[in-house]
Amino acid sequence: MSPLLQVEDLEVHYGKIAAVKGIGFHVDEGEVVTLIGTNGAGKTTTLRTISGLLRPTSGSIRYKGRPIDAVPPHKITGLGIAHSPEGRRIFPRMTVEENLMLGAFQRRDNDVRRDLHAAYELFPILGERAKQPAGTFSGGEQQMLAMGRAMMSRPDLLMLDEPSMGLSPLMMKRIMATVVTLQEQGTTILLVEQNARAALRRANRGYVLEIGKIVLAGTGAELLESDEVRKAYLGED
Ligand SMILES: Nc1ncnc2c1ncn2[C@@H]1O[C@H](COP(=O)(O)OP(=O)(O)O)[C@@H](O)[C@H]1O
Ligand SMILES: [Mg+2]
Repeated sequence: MSPLLQVEDLEVHYGKIAAVKGIGFHVDEGEVVTLIGTNGAGKTTTLRTISGLLRPTSGSIRYKGRPIDAVPPHKITGLGIAHSPEGRRIFPRMTVEENLMLGAFQRRDNDVRRDLHAAYELFPILGERAKQPAGTFSGGEQQMLAMGRAMMSRPDLLMLDEPSMGLSPLMMKRIMATVVTLQEQGTTILLVEQNARAALRRANRGYVLEIGKIVLAGTGAELLESDEVRKAYLGED
């Protein structure tokens, strides 16, 4: 069986500056795969390229066996890839429910209401505050909203860019627990994190990105144990 997502020799530039320098990785159906790395490693650039928001200089991206590197962003969403962006990007003046409905804007089926309730089941606070402006939410609540919104497109592949950024340890645990719940419910997840420990604990596999290149790959457990990862990313020496 071919992977759900296969990235090969991917290079992405901003003008003349190379941000991603020939990386390859894959995500199998049902997995949680994490890309970890410090600020500036190229994680966000990679996700934005998969989403069609940036065009690769070279290399290929295949989703369900089909090349998607020239497909526009709204069609990528339609194919089943959802992106919860770095910084959450919720619309503060719109209500929680309106924000969620934005995630379903392309859908023509009749199950949108049901999925709204699924989002409220996943994160009860979203249902309790459905009619309130999203700008009243804390960072953790906004992260829940961003994930709920991404799920409203009914993705097969959910990409999360730094969901734990800026959150309290308790809220971070809550968000990471949801990653596991969504996986159990059948969603495949590509998780980008600077918080390597939190991500590797929940991931089936991971890749370490350093200045645009993948320098290590392995199972979540292997990477947690590896000396290089422990020294560089887990604050141990
Ligand atoms: N819009 C941009 N214009 C120019 N350079 C950028 C832009 N966005 C990111 N970069 C550069 O690309 C590299 C990778 O950035 P990014 O993908 O945001 O990394 P990460 O998400 O791992 O922190 C960094 O050197 C960053 O400065
Ligand atoms: Mg980033």
